[in-house]
Amino acid sequence: LKILQVAPEIAPYAKVGGLADVVGAMTREFSQAGHDVRAIVPKYGFLEPDENWTALESPLSVHLGGGKEEYCRLWRMPYLDAPGQVYWIEFDKYFDRHEIYTGPWGSHADNHERFAFLSRAAIDYCHAFDWYPDIIHCHDWTTGLVPAYLNSTETGTPLVGAATVFTIHNLQHQGIYGRHVLDFAGLPQSLFRPDNLESVGNVNMMKSGLYNSTKLTTVSPTYGREIQEPALGCGLNHVLKFRAADLVGITNGIDTKEWNPATDPLIPANFNADDLSGKAVCKTELQRAFGLEETAEVPVFGAVARLFDQKGLDLLSAIIPQIMEEMVVQIVLLGAGDPALENEFKDLAARYPGKVGVFIGYNNKLAHLVEAGCDFFVMPSRFEPCGLNQLYSMAYGTLPIVRSTGGLADTVEQYVEGRGTGTGFRFEEVSSHALYYTIGWACSTYYDRPEDIAKLRYNAMTRDLSWSASAKVYGDVYRWARDARLRGLG
Ligand code: ADP
Ligand code: GLC
Repeated sequence: LKILQVAPEIAPYAKVGGLADVVGAMTREFSQAGHDVRAIVPKYGFLEPDENWTALESPLSVHLGGGKEEYCRLWRMPYLDAPGQVYWIEFDKYFDRHEIYTGPWGSHADNHERFAFLSRAAIDYCHAFDWYPDIIHCHDWTTGLVPAYLNSTETGTPLVGAATVFTIHNLQHQGIYGRHVLDFAGLPQSLFRPDNLESVGNVNMMKSGLYNSTKLTTVSPTYGREIQEPALGCGLNHVLKFRAADLVGITNGIDTKEWNPATDPLIPANFNADDLSGKAVCKTELQRAFGLEETAEVPVFGAVARLFDQKGLDLLSAIIPQIMEEMVVQIVLLGAGDPALENEFKDLAARYPGKVGVFIGYNNKLAHLVEAGCDFFVMPSRFEPCGLNQLYSMAYGTLPIVRSTGGLADTVEQYVEGRGTGTGFRFEEVSSHALYYTIGWACSTYYDRPEDIAKLRYNAMTRDLSWSASAKVYGDVYRWARDARLRGLG
């Protein structure tokens, strides 16, 4: 198959969250399996071309509304060690920025133009290079106009045969703008209707993806069901119910090259399920890095996340004083986001020196150390489409403590006391109380039933968390989408 990935992020080069990891994994998995895979991603200001980048000679002309044409430069780069290729779109007016979505004052004010431009550039790329993919795989709202362009392409051009697969990584962000977006993008105003991309008087770019794509996927089966209901449907649940027959939940895998405790070069000592001695070294190093008392006996609970409402870490900060009073534990947090929550965690670190360690910022190496050195990993998410950190923690024998939602419910198996089955600890209710109780349960298990902890670690570390099973399902969806498109059904 010829597969085009269109995305705002690709790991490890341009990444805000797990979407980047998934786009990278798709590019690698499918190109290594022999498919012709190309990924189109903006060249942001923080990316520096190196010897792997090739500047293409002719500029790409991008056709916007009102007959406007813009020229951008294209760079080609092999994707890591895989045969897949990344095409970086260089257009400084929109992409020469140090943040992908937001600046110091919030979301970039021209995000609608930036991502309409990316979407149109993907279409123009295919025409310009005479390269017509079987599948165009889009990711979240920023690429939601791509399938709308395809559906409004004049019949007779070879691109009409391309099927679109649209993956929902997070339904909360939808890209909602005034209808002038259509004029800018060069899309017909006739799409502005409730059974297409219009939503309460605005253009909704996520909705455009949901309506116009051949097939839809999301990143776990449970989230696939949750978004069809009002509670987590973010106002689009009726659309997802309408398209339920074309929607598949596929759990994310992890990049087992980057996240493998037996070979990880970013951690001070390697380890595996049969020999955890290296994990103890990582724990000491972690305690040192976060200014905690260096002791092997006390369990360390960690979290790495974007500090936003979704992740529920306010539920943790609220109970840290109580935890400090009643349990002998240490807590580390690595994250950035909501300034109020950042400050709250900083205050807690100051209040409990040697016991609570906080690093505000984005730091991949430190994220590896947290996964490797902790005993438990805390994810009290209010919703979680899939979540990658609980998967990384399991791979590193760090037992996840998660709320039963979305991908967390699908990937973490509940501990059964005494039997030692399961891979972590789950709770149902979105509340500090439920989290407190579950942390207490993990803590007492750590002190009173070390043999169970050892079993859970072994169970977690020997799970197959790789992409292999999920990539097969994506392959099925790609073929299903292509066949549907060829038969004129999508
Ligand atoms: P989301 O995409 O919603 O943020 P995921 O769990 O799918 O959640 O993916 C988060 C990814 O981002 C993981 O790879 C995680 O390690 C990484 N990450 C998040 N915050 C940080 C941070 N402050 N420093 C380093 N890595 C981070
Ligand atoms: C989103 C979700 C996260 C998921 C990631 C990759 O950012 O919040 O749960 O793991 O996308 O699919």
